[in-house]
Amino acid sequence: MAIIISIANQKGGVGKTTISLNLAYALAKKGYDTLIIDTDPQFNLTFALIGMDIIKRNDNNIGTLLIENAVKKTQIENAIIPIEENLSLIPSHLKVSAIERLLMTAYMREQRLKRVLEKIEDEYDFIIIDNPPSLGIFLINSLGASDYVLIPTELGYFSVMGVQLTLDVIREIKSTELNPDLEIMGIVANKFTRQSKVPQVRLDQLKETYPDLPVVAILPRAVAVEKSQGEGKPVFEFDPKNKVSKAFLQLAEKVIKNVR
Ligand SMILES: Nc1ncnc2c1ncn2[C@@H]1O[C@H](COP(=O)(O)OP(=O)(O)O)[C@@H](O)[C@H]1O
Ligand SMILES: [Mg+2]
Repeated sequence: MAIIISIANQKGGVGKTTISLNLAYALAKKGYDTLIIDTDPQFNLTFALIGMDIIKRNDNNIGTLLIENAVKKTQIENAIIPIEENLSLIPSHLKVSAIERLLMTAYMREQRLKRVLEKIEDEYDFIIIDNPPSLGIFLINSLGASDYVLIPTELGYFSVMGVQLTLDVIREIKSTELNPDLEIMGIVANKFTRQSKVPQVRLDQLKETYPDLPVVAILPRAVAVEKSQGEGKPVFEFDPKNKVSKAFLQLAEKVIKNVR
């Protein structure tokens, strides 16, 4: 059975998509069969990985899988796009935001992703779920289907509130039948820099505010990250010597260690 990990924070721009992509590539590179799922109606991850091919995926994407009442295994398999050795994608699509609205009133709407993954999780070691920057039905589906959640955050002035809101949602999900076993793996502090004192101060505050919440990784801010995304590549392939590349590979090691 696959280990399912959600990368979640309602705040946008904190690095959910970046971390999903790099973590999934790193796990695949280490030989783990990895599936990456884009549940964001804004489809940044899908676009980074398959570019304009996204247009063709009208009938097979995360939206069509979630809106279908009794989704069949063949439908799921048809939606999966091979990216490279050990790495596949269930894409998002331009039409997913319309589907999200339909899902809002659907029967058993919180458990759709869980039902989808039950049918295929035997075929993977890891399933990484990238999430939208909002608290909606897709995030609830992701958290409902996951074993673990990683919370990326920046270290700016308002960042701590994003962490708190995410923790609130997780607590709510854990208190229901949907997923009482959901575990918080910890925080990924992203875009760290020593050019100003603020990130270190915020990091210390974060640790003080949430003493039980591990900081799983500190990822430096680096231009190479954005550049690598333009090419749909993980940063450790684009610029292997960059210290951010090392940090992403260490994050993957840590994740593997934490789930064993
Ligand atoms: N460590 C980093 N260093 C530099 N830029 C980063 C880093 N992490 C993310 N970014 C950039 O920040 C922006 C937002 O990241 P993204 O992963 O799209 O966030 P989210 O998915 O949470 O909205 C992107 O342009 C991305 O390239
Ligand atoms: Mg994103």
